[in-house]
Amino acid sequence: MSDRWTPSAWRGKPARHVPTDYPDAEALAQAERTLRTLPPLVFAGEARRLKSLLGDVAEGRAFLLQGGDCAESFKEFQADNIRDTFRLILQMAVVLTFAGGKPVVKVGRIAGQFAKPRSEATETQGGVTLPSYRGDIINGQGFTPAERAPDPQRLVQAYGQSAATLNLLRAFAGGGYADLHNIHRWTLGFVADSPQGARYRELADQIGRTLDFMEAIGVTPDSQPALRQVEFFTSHEALLLGFEEAMTRVDSTSGDWYDTSAHMLWIGERTRQLDGAHVEFARGVKNPLGLKCGPTLEPDDLLRLTDVLNPKNEPGRLTLIGRFGADKAPELLPRLMAATRREGRAVVWSTDPMHGNTLKAANGYKTRPFDRILNEVRTFFEVARAEGVHPGGVHLEMTGQNVTECLGGARALSEDELSHRYHTHCDPRLNADQALELAFLLAEKLREARTAMRQPLSAAG
Ligand code: TRP
Ligand code: MN
Repeated sequence: MSDRWTPSAWRGKPARHVPTDYPDAEALAQAERTLRTLPPLVFAGEARRLKSLLGDVAEGRAFLLQGGDCAESFKEFQADNIRDTFRLILQMAVVLTFAGGKPVVKVGRIAGQFAKPRSEATETQGGVTLPSYRGDIINGQGFTPAERAPDPQRLVQAYGQSAATLNLLRAFAGGGYADLHNIHRWTLGFVADSPQGARYRELADQIGRTLDFMEAIGVTPDSQPALRQVEFFTSHEALLLGFEEAMTRVDSTSGDWYDTSAHMLWIGERTRQLDGAHVEFARGVKNPLGLKCGPTLEPDDLLRLTDVLNPKNEPGRLTLIGRFGADKAPELLPRLMAATRREGRAVVWSTDPMHGNTLKAANGYKTRPFDRILNEVRTFFEVARAEGVHPGGVHLEMTGQNVTECLGGARALSEDELSHRYHTHCDPRLNADQALELAFLLAEKLREARTAMRQPLSAAG
């Protein structure tokens, strides 16, 4: 791989899952030229800040919480949806911060998560075959030739939606909505209503008492603005490389290239070929990067990818996101963690317990059982402990809406209920209750990890 890098160098490499069937190539080029003239969505200094926070995660001093929709859509673009997802991430963050005793780095899968890789290029219904739906930034979900044709205008619309989403997120993060007391009040409501509430009440009460104590001694949002503000970052899969290229700019302070479409970008499981276009693009931008690591990834390939994506071995530059499935993780994750540890790679290890645990219910719905999701998270913590690696974070597909897409949880959502509010444009997401429940169960793991750290491993029972 040559060292000279340009934002368009990926065009010389094989690019999987990037559409090549735009009916009008000139219209696509025009849309990309338009994007180039539009303001950046994020500023390079913010991406550097996130990288430094992730550096803390890599070194075991913080925890990463990354979550949001599988795919954002134009149709579900509403202030309430954005607010509810943001609130959910913060509710989870409070619980995890308290339980882990470490700062939680908050990263949304939001404000740009539009493009989807699809296993089948086409879809057939009633004898008619059309291109697959590939996310609203590319084509439409409706099963008509017009909807399924890639439309360059969608790039500009996705930019606009991302800008408006980010604007609202910035307002929430800095404008008082993120007040710790406010966020915790919502969580008390959840605990009061949950069938498993008794299990979560103790932790929730401890947080409440801590807040009361702080208030009593004068540590209030008025005296400490940090109590009502959060740093919140955006991320998405860097899949549609024409869009990402158009958003890539030189930062005038450092002279480095940044992809200004989001703070953090990740490379998907299906596009992580060492000599492929996506790796070529990502290696040249200075944003913090994620890399999805699935069942087919061999330790040697992982090490080669970390060489290319993080040649200077900088902590915070690269987050490895395991997504094996609850059944395979116990066998496959240890080798990869052992390899990065043995070779001294300063990476963040995170877990995506969603993508390896998808199945089709008897009634045809694509779903994910809560227990399997929880199981993969538990395995992640256990393997990390055994391998001497910091269990750095979780990556979830979730929504603040009360959808019925994943099975189980405290309310024991059943297969028959999946049809009630199944709204996802792609994969099944945890609903607000299920996600918060996962945070409480994860909190138990984080507390264990804390106790284990206080005692040397050998003495730990
Ligand atoms: N600013 C601190 C932090 O982000 C404390 C905080 C304020 C907070 N509001 C929050 C933490 C909401 C979690 C969620 O950690
Ligand atoms: Mn998904």
